[in-house]
Amino acid sequence: MSDINAAMSKLTHGVYIITTKAKDKINGMTAAWVSKVSFDPPLVMVAVGLGRYSHELMKEGKVFAVNILDERQIDIGKHFGTKSGRKVDKFKGIEYETRVTGSPILKDAIAYIDCKLVSTYPAGDHTLFIGEVVDADVLREGEPQVFKHEDYFGRR
Ligand SMILES: Cc1cc2nc3c(=O)[nH]c(=O)nc-3n(C[C@H](O)[C@H](O)[C@H](O)COP(=O)(O)O)c2cc1C
Repeated sequence: MSDINAAMSKLTHGVYIITTKAKDKINGMTAAWVSKVSFDPPLVMVAVGLGRYSHELMKEGKVFAVNILDERQIDIGKHFGTKSGRKVDKFKGIEYETRVTGSPILKDAIAYIDCKLVSTYPAGDHTLFIGEVVDADVLREGEPQVFKHEDYFGRR
């Protein structure tokens, strides 16, 4: 017997807001499929679904930032993860600044990792965006959020 979905659901993830900038447009989306992938140079990876507005802007702008949420910031994860920037301005009422790449850095994040895009790889219905870290810092204390299915999508 095999149960691919049940076994895959045992992989652990954090919850992050991936922000980007392309010309005068900015956007942010919630992502769980994020990882460090190299020490030297420091590289991080985000898997972004093909239809996402963020996918379009990250390809165009070639920058992104990983904003790390704390365990209580489920509302902000839902805010950036349940609607598309094609239809709404998700930054209305959200405080942010920019550092090196121009990708929004959320003032409420516990840490950020600002990246320039160095490569992309097709991966099924997602694309892997690999970014080289050009700036990063911890903004405040807090425990990074661990993704729990029930927080976002109810009990299985
Ligand atoms: C907890 C959570 C985790 C998510 N993880 C990912 C992810 O890793 N990759 C992805 O492409 N979409 C992920 N999504 C879905 C996107 O955040 C969602 O489709 C978003 O509306 C895309 O916004 P955009 O069209 O403005 O880019 C996640 C959503 C939630 C709520």
